[in-house]
Amino acid sequence: VSLHLCLHAQQKPPPICYPLATIYHLHSPPLPPVRAPFSPASSSKSGEGFVAASQAIMAETVTNVSEYQAIAKQKLPKMAYDYYASGAEDEWTLKENREAFSRILFRPRILIDVSTIDMTTSVLGMKISMPIMISPTAFQKMAHPEGEYATARAASAAGTVMTLSSWATSSVEEVASTGPGIRFFQLYVYKDRKVVEQLVRRAEKAGFKAIALTVDTPRLGRREADIKNRFVLPPGLTLKNFEGLNLGTMDQANDSGLASYVAGQIDRTLSWKDVKWLQSITTMPILVKGVITAEDARLAVHSGAAGIIVSNHGARQLDYVPATISALEEVVTAAQGRIPVYLDGGVRRGTDVFKALALGASGVFIGRPVVFALAAEGEAGVRNVLRMMREEFELTMALGGCTKLSDITRNHIFTEGDRLGRPLPRM
Ligand code: FNR
Repeated sequence: VSLHLCLHAQQKPPPICYPLATIYHLHSPPLPPVRAPFSPASSSKSGEGFVAASQAIMAETVTNVSEYQAIAKQKLPKMAYDYYASGAEDEWTLKENREAFSRILFRPRILIDVSTIDMTTSVLGMKISMPIMISPTAFQKMAHPEGEYATARAASAAGTVMTLSSWATSSVEEVASTGPGIRFFQLYVYKDRKVVEQLVRRAEKAGFKAIALTVDTPRLGRREADIKNRFVLPPGLTLKNFEGLNLGTMDQANDSGLASYVAGQIDRTLSWKDVKWLQSITTMPILVKGVITAEDARLAVHSGAAGIIVSNHGARQLDYVPATISALEEVVTAAQGRIPVYLDGGVRRGTDVFKALALGASGVFIGRPVVFALAAEGEAGVRNVLRMMREEFELTMALGGCTKLSDITRNHIFTEGDRLGRPLPRM
């Protein structure tokens, strides 16, 4: 233990000052694929050796996805880091998204041949290598010059899904140009429905395979760090998908520039009938992202959604909603197996993935670990996040006595609810 602590203390990477032009990489064209373990393209011209050396240290010492957060904090300007890290108001839900996982314990089965483990699954009929996918997170070029390109390549290399945010700093066409890969497009519905129609068509044409319709953001949650920092996009970056539509920039405001942008552009009247409207303008299946109650799960099924993502937006919208892992089971029960239910929020370990699947999720998505790893070491970091999550999940399956995803059952875990009086599952 002392050796471990000592390594951490000594190998803390030194703070790195990126020149602005490197971080915000003005008008960067698509960059060539980057090979692990780290990206030469992420090095600044003036400090290549320094950056590369510190990345080498990082690559060796990062042993779980959460460790990228501290590295990102050192490397990023405060405004960018705070935007990625923060949650809404008291950040109760932000903590709870993690803590609720820690209250779920395992009931592992033993003496099962676990010499081969199959983690493959499918999402909306498409085969993926593991039930771990990438949530949409906005403004990825604020973390690293390659931003969404790096994430797209890393997801594709890992054989899993990347979801591109409406508010990406790379367009749907640019992300498609990185090569093959299963990609979903996350949609914010603007007041101007022509803008939405155009964007959905562009995503479809660019080969995106599904829409993740975000339904928890009629207004932006109160993220106090962004208010204090008067958050706006750094110079040179735009909401690339909206660039040609005069909606690509956000103005400096007295509080969060993003909150003002949302107040001006996002359609607060959005309702279930709009899911039908969306179906009328696209053939892409629609995942409703942001359901956390049984009532809404039933409405999602009736609306014709292809699936549900149980999400509280990484605890950035309404504070004091339950952790997504706590809300999952009621949503799964209400969906009655009619459509698949996915989860995001606080997934940081392979054990979290197993717990979500045991509670009925068909897969999970991860958000912040991707942006923090991007900030730390670009594409290599995202690849590493996906690799670590995969390996931890595989190990959890082996130690839990499961060789394929369908072996994972409710009986493999017990929750706080179970301990507080629900009878143990029948064996
Ligand atoms: C998000 N999230 C998000 N969701 C969405 O639908 N559209 C978006 O543009 C964004 N942008 C975004 C930026 C950042 C920095 C964060 C942290 C989150 C929410 C995201 O898709 C997902 O629901 C959460 O990030 C999942 O929680 P974890 O994994 O970050 O704990």
